[in-house]
Amino acid sequence: MSFKNNFTIKDLNLSHNIIYAPLAEYTDFAFRRLVRNYHTSLMYCEMVKMQALVREKTTKLLKYTKDMKPLGAQLCGADPSIAFDSAKKLEDSGFDTIDLNCGCPVHKVVKDGSGAALLKEPKLISQILSEMVKAVKIPVTIKIRLGWDDSSIVATDIVKIAIDAGCSAITIHGRTRKQGYSGKSDWNYITECKKVAQDNILVFANGDLYSAEDVKNVFELTKCDGVMIARGMLFSPWLSNDIESYYTNSIKPSFSRKEAILKYISYLLDEKKENAIFDLRRISGWFFRGIENIKNLRISINAATNIDQAIKLIEGFDFDERDNSAPCSL
Ligand SMILES: Cc1cc2nc3c(=O)[nH]c(=O)nc-3n(C[C@H](O)[C@H](O)[C@H](O)COP(=O)(O)O)c2cc1C
Repeated sequence: MSFKNNFTIKDLNLSHNIIYAPLAEYTDFAFRRLVRNYHTSLMYCEMVKMQALVREKTTKLLKYTKDMKPLGAQLCGADPSIAFDSAKKLEDSGFDTIDLNCGCPVHKVVKDGSGAALLKEPKLISQILSEMVKAVKIPVTIKIRLGWDDSSIVATDIVKIAIDAGCSAITIHGRTRKQGYSGKSDWNYITECKKVAQDNILVFANGDLYSAEDVKNVFELTKCDGVMIARGMLFSPWLSNDIESYYTNSIKPSFSRKEAILKYISYLLDEKKENAIFDLRRISGWFFRGIENIKNLRISINAATNIDQAIKLIEGFDFDERDNSAPCSL
């Protein structure tokens, strides 16, 4: 497969097969609003803990407006007894797809057996997915790393488990938990996963996709059905537009980085003025990465004591808007 317009995951019709990943503390409501100015296909909210979801009435992590759809939610947890209710709650809240997180490497997540720790318990993955699939009609998907470490690569086993559980898609990040974000996403394992999957489950490749060329390379190598992009969209929320124009030989749309960051700030201000400066600092760490002459602006934003100062700094900065494709890889 390669880039494809009109793509379906189970009954969910999507404009194309480039999807945007969940990113805890980044793909929040304001950022999702920003992304929707550019990206037409599926995107995800930040992961939510199953326990919190079944306990609380609402969670701000999952806030959305109808124009943000198609939108996926992601569950994080290791307790099959609450997987059914968690999934049902998400479907009832209007989400288009539900993913199970089997990749988060951070200590506070893996310490209770969730996230990437599930890769050490394939039977548990099977039980959780089966409960989720039983609970909902929308597509259930799973996102994994290759395994816990080099000596316990389980990706192809999890593909089989996901198929048996009735999952519609699996996303594979080609790193182990032990690697964190070091080294490179090893796409060769994704090739192996696609061979095992055949046409029984959709395979999305993930890891180190920052440009249309990266996406072309991963499609050619792995024969995957689609790709999931995470950090690349933090540099360039319009990356899927670049990929689409690359594949359709159309003129690359030009987007203004200054306009985008000011729009993002306006979305933050619709939510909460007090914290906006902190959110801006966090996002601009990625959004300004690799941009020429940006260092002083970043330093000034970090020193700014309120959002109005930051807005003035950004308005006064001369962005080079000639080519706003992903400015760099990591
Ligand atoms: C700050 C940050 C937050 C993340 N949060 C999540 C998350 O909530 N759920 C998840 O499945 N993966 C999460 N990831 C992993 C990404 O979705 C993705 O698998 C990984 O970054 C590799 O893809 P990339 O090279 O396109 O960034 C996170 C990654 C980063 C850097």
